[in-house]
Amino acid sequence: MKIAVTSASGKLGASIVKHLVDLIGKDNVIGIARTPEKAKHLGVEIRKGDYNNREDFNNALKGVDKVLLVSGMDEPQKRIEQHRNVIEAAKQNGVQKIVYTSIIGSETGTAFSPVVNSNRQTEEDVRNSGLHWINGRNGIYIEPDLEYIDTYIKEGEIRNCAADGKCGYTSREELGFAYAQLLYNDSLNDNTYNLLGEAITQTQLAEYINEVYKTDLNYTSVSVEEYKKERQEALGEFMGTVIAGIYEGIRNGANVVPSDFEKVAGRPHKSTLEIIKNYHQNHPQNLA
Ligand SMILES: NC(=O)c1ccc[n+]([C@@H]2O[C@H](COP(=O)([O-])OP(=O)(O)OC[C@H]3O[C@@H](n4cnc5c(N)ncnc54)[C@H](OP(=O)(O)O)[C@@H]3O)[C@@H](O)[C@H]2O)c1
Repeated sequence: MKIAVTSASGKLGASIVKHLVDLIGKDNVIGIARTPEKAKHLGVEIRKGDYNNREDFNNALKGVDKVLLVSGMDEPQKRIEQHRNVIEAAKQNGVQKIVYTSIIGSETGTAFSPVVNSNRQTEEDVRNSGLHWINGRNGIYIEPDLEYIDTYIKEGEIRNCAADGKCGYTSREELGFAYAQLLYNDSLNDNTYNLLGEAITQTQLAEYINEVYKTDLNYTSVSVEEYKKERQEALGEFMGTVIAGIYEGIRNGANVVPSDFEKVAGRPHKSTLEIIKNYHQNHPQNLA
C-alpha cells in the first residue's frame, strides 16, 4: 500500500509522514513537496508537487492508493482551486481515498471566516470526489504560542482579543498521530472528525506556560478592533486580519466543539499542559 502526504516539507506534513512511517514502514510512504529538497530529511521517497500545478500531481500520485491533502497557505479563493488540482489528479490516477486537513472555526462574522469557508468548500469537494474520503477539522496548534514565548516574556503578558472564550488546542505532533490512523484505518472512512484537546481560556494558557517555563505572564484582553490594528502593524494586512479573526472566533465560542480525537487515535488527546511540557523538553533553545 502506498500512502502519499502533500506539503511534506511543512511541519504538519512532516509530522504525519513520521507517524505513518512508524505505522506502515518507510517503503510505503511518499512525501510530496513543492520544494522537494526541504523534505529529503524525512527518509522516504519524495516527489514534486506544487498546488498550483495540476501536472505535478498527475505525476506525483501515480501508483498511490491513499493521499493526505494538507490545506494550503494562500488566500482563500486561490486555495480552493489549488486543492482541486490535487483532488482531480487523485481521481484521474485511481487513488482510492483522500484525507483532508481542515480547520475548526467560525464560518460567519469574523475576519477568519473566509479562510474557514474556503476549508468548508474543499471539504465538500473531497466529499463529492467519488473516492473514499475523510475531513479532519483541526483545533488551533499550540506550538506557535510556544515559539512566541520570548516575546510574551518581554511583554510580561499574553495579549489578544479572546477575552474569556475557551479554545480547544492541539499540536502538530498529536495531529500527526491522528492523521496516520485516519489514513491507515479504513473503518473511519467517509466521515468528518474534530481533532482537538480540552478547551481552555487564555488565562489558563498563561498559567500552564508559567508552570512549565517558570514565567510570570498575565493574560490581557483587548478589544477586537484594537487587537486587529496591532496585529496588522506587526504582521501586515492579510495575516494580521486573519490572526485577529481567529481570536475573535475564540471569543465568540467557535473553538469549543466536541472532540473525536480518541475515536480516531484510539487514545485520549494529550492535555495542553502535557503538550507544553513535552515541547519545553524538546526545544531547549526556547528555554526562558
Ligand atoms: N490549525 C492551526 O492552528 C493552523 C495554523 C497555521 C496553519 N494552519 C494550516 O495548516 C497547514 C499546515 O501547517 P504547517 O504548520 O505544516 O505549516 P508550515 O510548516 O508553514 O508549512 C506550510 C507548507 O505548505 C507548503 N506550501 C505552501 N504553498 C504551497 C503550494 N503552492 N504547493 C504545495 N505546497 C505548498 C509549504 O511548502 P514549501 O516548503 O515549499 O514552502 C510547506 O510545506 C497550513 O498550510 C494552514 O493551511 C493551521
